[in-house]
Amino acid sequence: MTLVIAMDGPSGSGKSSVSKGVARALGLRYLDTGAMYRAMTWWMLREGVPVDDPSAVAARAGEPGLSCGTDPDSPEISVDGTDVSGPIRGSEVTGAVSAVAAVPEVRERLVALQREIIGAGGIVVEGRDIGTVVAPDAPVKIYLTASPEVRARRRSRELTGATVLATQADMARRDRLDSTRKTDPLTRAADAVEVDTSSLGLSEVISEIVHIANR
Ligand code: CDP
Repeated sequence: MTLVIAMDGPSGSGKSSVSKGVARALGLRYLDTGAMYRAMTWWMLREGVPVDDPSAVAARAGEPGLSCGTDPDSPEISVDGTDVSGPIRGSEVTGAVSAVAAVPEVRERLVALQREIIGAGGIVVEGRDIGTVVAPDAPVKIYLTASPEVRARRRSRELTGATVLATQADMARRDRLDSTRKTDPLTRAADAVEVDTSSLGLSEVISEIVHIANR
């Protein structure tokens, strides 16, 4: 497998900015697997599927046509030809995505799609199960962390009108769901290098990972 960088970690750990920066620095493609779970969730909500009913979600998981760009400068995602890059970041999708992502049929379909996109490599892939499930043979595995306070502060800066406390509570709820689900829970791969970004600037984290990848 040519270079695949698996970048896992919880929300607010800096995964997206770091992954895009590393992809640019090394001339690699970039895949945001969280956006795929969000796009699937957006479609379920639009179709009126009860997202807290795993069998209802499972029954429809094969239907939406997802297409996912890999350019770190404009990572587009569309569902049946509609660009959903904006709507998938809304609070309705954020509130429902962990329930949808816990459904095995959803994961099976999206993991297959992710492996197809990763193909021969040359890509930075961000998510929660990349180093453990999607690309267990990736030659470079990073697990990004940061303290809960720092993560909530970062995320509430990106969202308009969200307080740090409310954001921290929502992240804690999602972390709990993501790390306790039965299928492919969020966990650090045994061979991943852990990078704590709490007190590092973006460019410092990017240089550290570029350095690790070039070793
Ligand atoms: O943007 P944020 O880091 O908050 O989350 P995201 O990367 O957009 O992922 C949204 C949700 O998708 C997560 O909370 C997980 O429930 C799910 N997800 C997953 O289960 N597996 C992945 N590889 C990526 C995301």
